[in-house]
Amino acid sequence: MSSTTIITLAVAVLAVLGLAVVLTASRRSDVGGIGSLSRETRKRDRSIAKKAKSSSQEVESQAFASRGSSLAVMPPPEIEKWVAPDTEALGETRRAFLNRATVTLMSASLGGFAAALIAFLWKGAEGGFGSKISVGKIDDIIGQIRSARGFLYLPEARSWVTEYPREAISKAEVAYGGQGAVFSGMNAGIVALYQKCPHLGCRVPECSTSQWFECPCHGSQYNRVGEKKGGPAPRGMDRFGVSVNNGVMVIDTGTVFGGPPIGTNTTGQEAEGPNCIGEPGSH
Ligand code: FES
Repeated sequence: MSSTTIITLAVAVLAVLGLAVVLTASRRSDVGGIGSLSRETRKRDRSIAKKAKSSSQEVESQAFASRGSSLAVMPPPEIEKWVAPDTEALGETRRAFLNRATVTLMSASLGGFAAALIAFLWKGAEGGFGSKISVGKIDDIIGQIRSARGFLYLPEARSWVTEYPREAISKAEVAYGGQGAVFSGMNAGIVALYQKCPHLGCRVPECSTSQWFECPCHGSQYNRVGEKKGGPAPRGMDRFGVSVNNGVMVIDTGTVFGGPPIGTNTTGQEAEGPNCIGEPGSH
């Protein structure tokens, strides 16, 4: 192959390649690039959007027109003008409130106190502790004391009731003559002893073996009629007045008579068996 032929062929190939490049470029400019919509498609989209916009504007204007025709126009609310409070009147109101509160509190306190007082007096009038208490026929009481082996406890009177021996009444007159209501009970054969120990106030129980009262707190001991036999107590057991009306025994718990002084021993009763607390006469 001659050189002239080779040059001719090269020119032809170059011409074909150039034509292909031109055709490809014109195609690209026609579609607007890779991934872009065609011109017809974009034209169609613009037309649809325009229609949608005009219809939404129509709907909106229709709704606005209908609202405007049906809603009543409310007048603006009236705002009251602010006026500064009268400080004098305010002070007056505060004072009046405090006065009323004070009076109310005082009335409530006084009312409560009066109610408590009335309840207390009412209870006393009804025969509770602190008043005269009718405890039953004296013969029955003596029978109960004997059944209970010498000691009868009456809770309503907070008292121990025991028999006073007839043979000791002359000594009782000397020792207890100054306590008329107490002696009157002894004369009827009865002693009503306050349950509270005169030492520090414990409730004193009976001791069935010694037949004394023996205090478990500090060991004070008293014979059956409450005269001190031992321990730290400053005197014998305190007691109440007793009266008998038509055979009915009454204990007056409104007055507490102090117990007899240490050394008083009108009955001469010694321990009748083992003591419950310590030894007789200890301390
Ligand atoms: S309280 Fe009874 S002996 Fe002390």
